[in-house]
Amino acid sequence: MGDLRQKLLNSLRTIIDSIENELFIRSYLGYLGGQHKHLYHVEGKYYPAFGQAIVETLKQYLQEKWTPAYEKAWIEAIQYVSNLMQT
Ligand code: HEM
Repeated sequence: MGDLRQKLLNSLRTIIDSIENELFIRSYLGYLGGQHKHLYHVEGKYYPAFGQAIVETLKQYLQEKWTPAYEKAWIEAIQYVSNLMQT
């Protein structure tokens, strides 16, 4: 889990750092999505639960620092990423 946590954090950082670079983000997320589909056998229907788990985790971790604006922004970002991973 420790290694996976670091990989997920690195991945989120890559996404945040390159959100303005559409060409890169599309190819990175297309590749990551392909790995999920073919290597990890992740189906599209699993993405909403995964997104919900990330939001719940951030909410619990940040407690009073968490705001409705953060929640809205994270839900939109996860939807954007999840969509690109499945195209
Ligand atoms: C926003 C969506 C997601 C992102 C950004 C994401 C990101 C990642 C990253 C960065 C890795 C490590 C890949 C590597 O470098 O080897 C990974 C692995 C993995 N992900 Fe995801 N993921 C997402 C959604 C999901 C979903 C929906 C599932 C299934 C419910 C899932 C299951 C897995 C599994 C099984 C692995 C492999 C774990 C291992 O190596 O032991 N992911 N994911």
